[in-house]
Amino acid sequence: MKNAEIPLSAPDITEEEIEAVVSVLRSPRLSLGPKLEEFEHAMVEYVGSEHAVGVSSGTAGLHLALLALSIGPGDEVIVPSFTFVAVANAVRYLGAVPVFADIDAESLNLDPARAEAAITPRTKAMIAVHTFGRPADMAALGQIARRHQLHLIEDACEALGAEMDGRQVGTFGDAAVFAFYPNKQITTGEGGMVVTQDLDVARRLRALRNHGRTGEAWLEHAEVGYNYRLSEMQCALGVVQLRRIESILARREAVARGYCALLDGNAVLGLPAVDVPGVRLSWFVFVVQVEERDGVAERMREKGIATGRYFLPIHRQPAYSPRRAQRGDAPEFVIGPGGLPVTERVGARTLALPFFNRITEEQMGKVADVLQRALS
Ligand SMILES: Cc1ncc(COP(=O)(O)O)c(C=O)c1O
Repeated sequence: MKNAEIPLSAPDITEEEIEAVVSVLRSPRLSLGPKLEEFEHAMVEYVGSEHAVGVSSGTAGLHLALLALSIGPGDEVIVPSFTFVAVANAVRYLGAVPVFADIDAESLNLDPARAEAAITPRTKAMIAVHTFGRPADMAALGQIARRHQLHLIEDACEALGAEMDGRQVGTFGDAAVFAFYPNKQITTGEGGMVVTQDLDVARRLRALRNHGRTGEAWLEHAEVGYNYRLSEMQCALGVVQLRRIESILARREAVARGYCALLDGNAVLGLPAVDVPGVRLSWFVFVVQVEERDGVAERMREKGIATGRYFLPIHRQPAYSPRRAQRGDAPEFVIGPGGLPVTERVGARTLALPFFNRITEEQMGKVADVLQRALS
């Protein structure tokens, strides 16, 4: 959105971070060097997982996590539709079939009962997305996964630092994926990280991100892999960003609470929950729910305020047209039993407001003011 006076998001890069990137550029190693190891080690320490494997994006991480867990053609993978399109795309990269299950209206995460109802003999995995930094119900989803012998992958791309019952997201599933695009809690420009407790999965991920190399030999490729590496410059940035994750999360929580205080009491506005028992939220975006969302967004844009329509459900995207769901024995995606009524309702109402670490009180006040006027 060009010329918006208040952007939807903005990076927060310190001089120390710039220095860290520049010092890599002065070194002899620009890829697969000490900064990758340092960043992976720091993620292991922070998240509390056994292994961390840096990759070039969250999408690459989802692709490799599915591949490392041997998801293949014809397998069904249960996913939400109310999320970023990469979740279902990664399933489709493998010739597997995303099966969309509905979400819970309050948490906006997969509804465990609806996910279980979508299981068939072909189901191999579920992807639990921690939507907008709020942990999915991992206790219930974990039980379902065990009962039906399914892999459980966490998409924690929006949720670095979120906790449930004292445990960090990323430690519940067979593998979990984080992402570091500039609007995320920490950024490496582009980048991602897959974490897992399983050494074999970690080895597979390391080979697959690096053209299928398993040993020292640079020109020996044990399997068909990808170039999904994260550069030393990106890792250097990530290391320093991760060091200040706690202050970043505290700042983002303060912004969220600030918006809630400014918008509290508006009868036509649905505000996100800020205090959820047993949960530590990691604020990715600040999303309100309004009727006639598109008109409100347009009126805000006219006043110089950028907003985001997070999310247009995946099954409503042109790449997921109904025709693709009806290809006889080989549909490209499936809508689970009972359809997606909550996803439809929520997807038409959600509006992300400007949300970034360095947003000022004045900017927040203006956003709240313009929003209230746009509603009336
Ligand atoms: C839930 C979710 N999954 C996956 C991704 C993909 O991450 P990336 O943009 O790094 O490929 C994103 C990023 O926006 C996301 O929000």
